[in-house]
Amino acid sequence: MQKIHHITSAQNIASRELLEKLFQTAETLQNKQARNDSLQGKILACLLYEPSTRTRFSFEAAMLRLGGQVLSSEDAGRYSSAKKGETLEDAIQIINGYADCIMLRHPEKGAAQRAAEVSDVPLINGGDGPGEHPTQALLDVYTLYKELGKIDGLNIAIVGDLKHGRTVHSLLMLLDVYKDMRLRLVSPKQLTLPAEYKQNLQNSIEETTNMQDMLSTADVVYMTRIQKERFEAKEEYENLKDSYIFGKEELALLKKNAVIMHPLPRVDEISKEVDKDPRSAYFRQAHNGLYVRMALLQHLLE
Ligand code: NCD
Repeated sequence: MQKIHHITSAQNIASRELLEKLFQTAETLQNKQARNDSLQGKILACLLYEPSTRTRFSFEAAMLRLGGQVLSSEDAGRYSSAKKGETLEDAIQIINGYADCIMLRHPEKGAAQRAAEVSDVPLINGGDGPGEHPTQALLDVYTLYKELGKIDGLNIAIVGDLKHGRTVHSLLMLLDVYKDMRLRLVSPKQLTLPAEYKQNLQNSIEETTNMQDMLSTADVVYMTRIQKERFEAKEEYENLKDSYIFGKEELALLKKNAVIMHPLPRVDEISKEVDKDPRSAYFRQAHNGLYVRMALLQHLLE
């Protein structure tokens, strides 16, 4: 098994063997609603320079459920010494002396890589601007496995802001360890997937602006939010924000066993009326994050 230290990109965990091991551990923990003391005495530092609900709380809950402890700065741009002009690299080296692992969320693409370069303790990228979000991809793939029992050969429509959506960038890398995937990327022309995330994919991708046409054949519809905070011009965001709305009509086009996913938070791209449909997996998906992150922390720190 490949030894991982830092997780700055989904590339670091893109091995079938590792994913299978993590998913088995996550599933065992989930079935038993487990708590244990495997990480007793260890400390996780969560350093967040951007807002977070799920990523932060699920990492913290995961650490606490494993008997570890947590240090957290939830608005590090304002409440850490970054406000006084301290560089990210200096902050990371200092926190290395206090914690056994760091989860970092930062608005700049590449920040996690910069941080990892000066970190002796494992550095986990919890989102670096419009770059990547590898642990979200991990819980997304785990959700596919839980919901559908297999991943090879799935037909997945990924919809929304594929330019800025970091969860999608990481997800495509992880899905690439599976075979015969049919990946259909649905976005407005202005928000297509950047070339750098397409280049090395083995699986075939198909790009379109039309969501409706994809729905009757999709096994999975992965909706994403138009990433308001990444737009320079408010007007451009306003023009694009309602590009895709998944409501009752869209639901009616889906296969009986299809799965609707979303990394959350959602704004208007999935109507509330869709929530009650058994195919809507997005809240289950968010809950899965806890167990996947428990499995990951155990793997990194035990
Ligand atoms: C995502 C993120 O932060 O990239 N949220 C999350 O961690 N589940 C998705 C988003 O903000 O749209």
